Amino acid sequence: MTSFIVSPATKPLIGIANVPGDKSVGHRSLLFGAIASGETVIRGLSGGQDNQRTRSAMAAMGVEIEELPTGQLSVQGVGLRGLKQAAQAIDCGNSGTTMRLLCGLLCAQSFDSTMVGDHSLTGRPMRRVTDPLAKMGARIEGASGKREGEYYPPLSIRGLGDGRLSGIRYEQPVASAQVKSALLIAGLFAEGVTEVVEPGRSRNHTELMLAHMGAPLTVDGRVIRVDPTGWDGKLAGGKVSVPGDPSSAAFLIAAGLVAGVERLSVPEVCVNRTRTGFLDALGEMGARVELECRSDASGDAVADLVVSRGAAEQLVGSVIAGELTLRALDELPILAIVAARASGTTDFRDAKELRVKESDRISTTCEMLRNLGVGVEEREDGFTVQGLAGKPFKACEIEAHGDHRIAMSGVIAGLAADGDVKVNDVDNVATSFPTFVKTLSALGAQIR
Ligand code: S3P
Repeated sequence: MTSFIVSPATKPLIGIANVPGDKSVGHRSLLFGAIASGETVIRGLSGGQDNQRTRSAMAAMGVEIEELPTGQLSVQGVGLRGLKQAAQAIDCGNSGTTMRLLCGLLCAQSFDSTMVGDHSLTGRPMRRVTDPLAKMGARIEGASGKREGEYYPPLSIRGLGDGRLSGIRYEQPVASAQVKSALLIAGLFAEGVTEVVEPGRSRNHTELMLAHMGAPLTVDGRVIRVDPTGWDGKLAGGKVSVPGDPSSAAFLIAAGLVAGVERLSVPEVCVNRTRTGFLDALGEMGARVELECRSDASGDAVADLVVSRGAAEQLVGSVIAGELTLRALDELPILAIVAARASGTTDFRDAKELRVKESDRISTTCEMLRNLGVGVEEREDGFTVQGLAGKPFKACEIEAHGDHRIAMSGVIAGLAADGDVKVNDVDNVATSFPTFVKTLSALGAQIR
């Protein structure tokens, strides 16, 4: 198991730092490109392992995917009904999005499939997606595990033969883009209308991309509707430009805020409103992050994120709750590190979903903060952080528990500690941000 040792920053960070392509957009570009008609050319796909799992899964089902000399990826779409049975179980590795989105696709096929995952994914609950799909007629079974009656990977999916799924209206008890996406994908294959009603707006990349490719999908407030009646069953392949991943950019921006910064710019980051909760949360904490050079990438808003000297002079505690929590869900561990540098307390609420991410992120974030010498109170659906008001973190050892976002948060904290911080079990940083250490080092950080 690999560890990183981070030394406290001795000078302000400076430079331009690129992040990998957005992971959520990447999964969808591969999956929808595979079932489109004609070629899809993807620019900017992340080399992170999670997206590569989706790529391998589609290739295993007979989709030709080739890297072009330009570095772009060419996906030869096989059409909605052109996938072939994979010769082996599909290995989703650490990627919950791969497994949950594929549930929606594979349950609509005529052939059987099996999906497996790594240790972390094998501990993640799947009935949230298999139950509503079962209402559409899907036949998916999971293994037993930690919680009685829950389904865990491996998942076995029985093909429908000549049968078809039927559309349903599904009111989501908890907002989840993965579950929503699985149902919308299944809805493309179903008879009748599929409607998903969201309790809050989760990331909407599936809706944007499917509608762009000509799927019979409409959005009316919190209701997303797929109605394939009369549709020719063709998604149009084309060009997809994957913007920079805001969830990766959040670590670099936070690095500038906690370690001191001269000027740090992260170009071409996705600033789709469903993804920018961390920027709003930082704003409420008094941090100044500028958005420059705004543009557009395949329907998603894009901007350069910039932090400059003085951006974190007056960090104050805040309350992160409700819709803001949903829009910043993946960024809560790194926001907790920023909150720990502020004066006053920050209350993270409505974050129960963090308990079932790549680790139990409420527990692993609180453990990390305690090791760093930060006062923290843990609750079932969140935690409260006692800010150190700019005092350095305590040099310590942090267990990432195989969770990429805990590992990267620990490294950033190390930049603002009173001695070296060692972060253990960091290999999974490669699932989302393989160039993380190199990128941070180029800004002036010392990591070995
Ligand atoms: C994702 C949705 C979110 C997020 C995950 C990626 C997606 O999960 O945490 O990292 O790409 O759809 P939930 O749908 O479980 O909230």
